[in-house]
Amino acid sequence: MTVRAGREFLAIPGPTTMPDEVLQAMHRPALDIYSSQMVELTESLLADLSKLFATKGKSYIYIANGHGAWEAVLSNVMSRGDKLLVLESGRFAIGWGNAAALMGVDVEVLKGDWRRAIRPAEVEARLKEDKEHRIKAIVAVQVDTASGAYNDIEAIGKAIKSAGHPALFMVDTVASLGCMPFEMDEWGVDVAMSGSQKGLMTPPGLGFVAANARAFEAHKHANLRTPYWDWSEREGTEHYRKYAGTAPVHLLFALRKAIDMLHAEGLENAFLRHRLLAKAVRRAVAAWSEGQVLGFNIAEANERSDTVTTVTMNGFDPAALQRFCKEKCGVVLGTGIGDLSGQAFRIAHMGHVNAPMILGTLGVIEVALHALKIPHGKGGTEAAIEYLGESVGA
Ligand SMILES: Cc1ncc(COP(=O)(O)O)c(C=O)c1O
Repeated sequence: MTVRAGREFLAIPGPTTMPDEVLQAMHRPALDIYSSQMVELTESLLADLSKLFATKGKSYIYIANGHGAWEAVLSNVMSRGDKLLVLESGRFAIGWGNAAALMGVDVEVLKGDWRRAIRPAEVEARLKEDKEHRIKAIVAVQVDTASGAYNDIEAIGKAIKSAGHPALFMVDTVASLGCMPFEMDEWGVDVAMSGSQKGLMTPPGLGFVAANARAFEAHKHANLRTPYWDWSEREGTEHYRKYAGTAPVHLLFALRKAIDMLHAEGLENAFLRHRLLAKAVRRAVAAWSEGQVLGFNIAEANERSDTVTTVTMNGFDPAALQRFCKEKCGVVLGTGIGDLSGQAFRIAHMGHVNAPMILGTLGVIEVALHALKIPHGKGGTEAAIEYLGESVGA
């Protein structure tokens, strides 16, 4: 017997659920890519992306996923043999560093671990040791989608400043932009990147990069530049060059609609919605963890992301739980990846999410815990309901 029917619900951390409005926005003919409508669409999106990153710097749209946007950043500012400091907090900064190493960059990892966020004091100490300023750039993720860690980018920016180090600070916001506050200029970030398929509720396929004046200075001397990614190639008034070729017209229609929806909600409200729903999830996980099998991967409560929660399982197979949720109830949970492969599952709460989606997901997990006889503290979904009842307000 199953209780699934209709649309499967994706509770994975990207691609996320797309609003019907976003899907419908793509259901129209292409534009003439040389028309004024096309130029205006691009201009509006580039301006809005800079606002989302909170920078006076320039934004770029690439036909690419997050890996492409990583490469865009590296190729525009780095030279072969430059030193890059990778701040570890799970999987994704390491992935960015691996890409850099394959491009000929000298990569050093500031060791972190999968259960905690980056410690700004450790960053400051490492930078103070680098008296010759050999480190040219530092990369970090705001949210590590695998570990569920939230890194305090503002504090890391301050640490870099107080070390008096000139390295470029480059931040991955793939799993946070549009969901959690990000202040590129205020926090001392020189380059930021993101993708379309998570908080921005748009199909996968668009990568975004924003860069400030310091990044452009480095760009002038970078020797890893290649034509498609190159910021300079995208300069000028000719619209065709903004995408180094044909514009991804339908993805842009989708992105326009998604950003319009975020504006209609209000960015602050969107952040608050994510915060409340994330806390509801954490209340449920905290209750379940009393059974000694489930637990938070991220040890410190204030280092847990508002966009994804990574739940570890001790002595039970998360795949069985995930299978039950999907096959019996139509809810797809994120799988544990990297070091957490086979030991965790992930609950995404990013992008187009609301109370019924989150409470439904929690309820289904609880059904699975019950059906599979996995020991767990009772009342997880109830705790989430109580939290929202207290916090959402009358
Ligand atoms: C934080 C983060 N950065 C980068 C990436 C890579 O993005 P993509 O899979 O679109 O290449 C991901 C993918 O999940 C991610 O979560």
